[in-house]
Amino acid sequence: MLFAEDEDALKSAPAAVASGPRSLALLGDESIAEQKIVAGREEPCRANAWAGIMDLGLLRSKVLACSDCSLRSGANNVVFGDGDPRAQVMLIGEAPGQSEDESGNPFVGRAGKLLDGLLSEARLRREDVFICNIAKCRTPRNRLSEPAEVSACLPHLRAQMRIISPRIVVALGALSSQTLVDPSIRVTRDRGKWFEEDGVHYLVTFHPAAVLRDERRKRGLVESDMKNLRAMLDRLCDKKR
Ligand code: URA
Repeated sequence: MLFAEDEDALKSAPAAVASGPRSLALLGDESIAEQKIVAGREEPCRANAWAGIMDLGLLRSKVLACSDCSLRSGANNVVFGDGDPRAQVMLIGEAPGQSEDESGNPFVGRAGKLLDGLLSEARLRREDVFICNIAKCRTPRNRLSEPAEVSACLPHLRAQMRIISPRIVVALGALSSQTLVDPSIRVTRDRGKWFEEDGVHYLVTFHPAAVLRDERRKRGLVESDMKNLRAMLDRLCDKKR
């Protein structure tokens, strides 16, 4: 699968930013530094259609019937996502690859196997979290999703996030980080950083496919991000008690 390197993904993100969070706070050690993001972004009208849906199963059936962009006609399956509908943690990748397109499930290929192993560093299993992608349909030859495709698909993800209501979102790779957190994110520079908006904590980390391509340099880093994920989860759960 082609993987969105930072600069390439940036070409997809600006349109997507049209539906991203208005501003996120970058969490430092204890201090919170404001990080402003371009404002004035609106979701396409589809967001309103999903607004009343509170049930993930119902949303799933609607999303599986989506043909809002041309990707659907070339894909075998709409890959909605998988996991605990009440998960505290969502992991969000880029778009389905071949194995995912064939099976209808996210991260089931080589990158998915690696992701399963990485989750264990956070003492989590796949069934404890919810895993999905920015784009729900495979792109031709796994090219990077176009901005218009990301925009068309984003209301589905926003609705998933609203229903699941996670405490933590792990943005896997450039497209996810730039779409959900800030279009200026560079994963190599910003991985391991936490951002916060409306009580949701966003962690930027490498995409598993990027780790597969450079395990020697990236595996240890992403493992340490997963340990930080565990620590943040424990901290947030402690606060709730
Ligand atoms: N890469 C992704 O970004 N998502 C998948 O589901 C599989 C590979």
